[in-house]
Amino acid sequence: MAQTYKMYINGEWIDSDSGETFTRLNPATLETIGEFQKGDEKDIDKAVDVAEDAFEIWSEMPAPKRGEILFKIAQLLQKNKEELAKIVTIEMGKVLMEARGDVQEAIDMTFLMAGEGRRLFGKTTTSELKDKFAMATRRPLGVVGLITPWNFPIAIPSWKIMPALICGNTVVFKPSSNTPLCAIKFVEILEKAGIPKGVINLVTGPGSTAGMHLVGHKKVRGISFTGHRDTGAEILRIAGIKKVGLELGGKNPIIIMDDADLNLALDGVIWGGYGTTGQRCTAASRVIIHEKIKNKFEKMLVERIKKLKLGNGLYAKTDIGPLVNQAAQDKSKSYVDIGLKESAKLLIGGHIPKIKGYFFEPTLFSNCSIDMRIAQEEIFGPVVSLITTKNLNEAIEIANSVEYGLSSAIYTNNIRNAFKAIEKLEAGITYVNASTVGAEVHLPFGGVKYSGTAREGGWAAIEEFSELKTVYFDYSGKLQKAQIDID
Ligand code: UN1
Repeated sequence: MAQTYKMYINGEWIDSDSGETFTRLNPATLETIGEFQKGDEKDIDKAVDVAEDAFEIWSEMPAPKRGEILFKIAQLLQKNKEELAKIVTIEMGKVLMEARGDVQEAIDMTFLMAGEGRRLFGKTTTSELKDKFAMATRRPLGVVGLITPWNFPIAIPSWKIMPALICGNTVVFKPSSNTPLCAIKFVEILEKAGIPKGVINLVTGPGSTAGMHLVGHKKVRGISFTGHRDTGAEILRIAGIKKVGLELGGKNPIIIMDDADLNLALDGVIWGGYGTTGQRCTAASRVIIHEKIKNKFEKMLVERIKKLKLGNGLYAKTDIGPLVNQAAQDKSKSYVDIGLKESAKLLIGGHIPKIKGYFFEPTLFSNCSIDMRIAQEEIFGPVVSLITTKNLNEAIEIANSVEYGLSSAIYTNNIRNAFKAIEKLEAGITYVNASTVGAEVHLPFGGVKYSGTAREGGWAAIEEFSELKTVYFDYSGKLQKAQIDID
């Protein structure tokens, strides 16, 4: 019998109100991982109420003290890195090396935010009047609802939870139903580190009921969501007047110029396109290649893709783990069919291999054009589209031809090309001579256009999870009138 896990509300591990559960499978072996509480609206109400009660104590605790608790969390994450990484692999499929990176990203973020407890900078400025002091300080939002995806099941919760906590907010955390165990293990660590009850609450359950109820909840002052663009649009509709940060998809391009180091670019395409089985918002799903090097690079790429080994992410020899679930496998397959119908040239891959698990062959299409769906839509699988270009201006136009704008990259040895790309690419992130993946926690992370509205990471995360209070301190002892007493 599979173990039944609970959810965490007000410092206690409890069953859902309905008593219903759902099952999660290991996507590589199809074995049951466990039964998880199917939380619904009532559980969300309970979690929001206790988070509201806990807000006073938590927000009044000096931020450096909150930072000390975060510091302990970071140390516990370090201590449990290997165990957590294995759970990541078992639950969502990525290879162990990448799963360790996922946990490491959470460790880095938690240490960073622990230190923020002694910064949380505001600004002071001048006043237009004498004997008057002007500044802006930070206040927490209140109760925040954090809805996280499965593709970085430890890292992304940390991107949201840690800045939310250091700023003094209390949290209702609703993770993806593909990775409830990662969320539970993560919250267990927060509990062990001594986080006061009610400050972090975990509700597992469907996004359409529990998640959307959290989004629309009147007592919730902020929502941070990473996930599908359609869900993001729905969240904006339902949220009402509250702060909403969205991290949505991407259709991230790598431009490869004719002066590029092709071996370096090759490593970048393989890592960005097929790492995490293509299941990153930042995945390189389009390669925009200069016509002079197209044939040569295509051959190099196909040779490398042939060598990639599919398998269980726990085995050291595996390069590519499974997709997260059956729906993801079906989606990759359906995009291959779409690509073939659109007359793109399938160079390699395109099939569901005849092995157990939600695997999909690393797939490469060539001769794509910008009007094709495979060159426009997010597939979130190991499917890469090659588009040929004559020059940099055209490459940038192609790169910008999609509705998304999260990450982007250019391989070139010409600094003018590099700076032109930095200036013109419509994306929240541009890499030069590196792939589209690999963001570091202390820099802003987020997209433009349909890739979303949020900036997470670094100081930008503090902006997301706090609001500014402007303070005018008049010590003149008389009525001074701004804009009027100007002489
Ligand atoms: C995501 O896919 O949503 O830059 C996040 C990267 C990782 C984070 C990806 N550090 O690829």
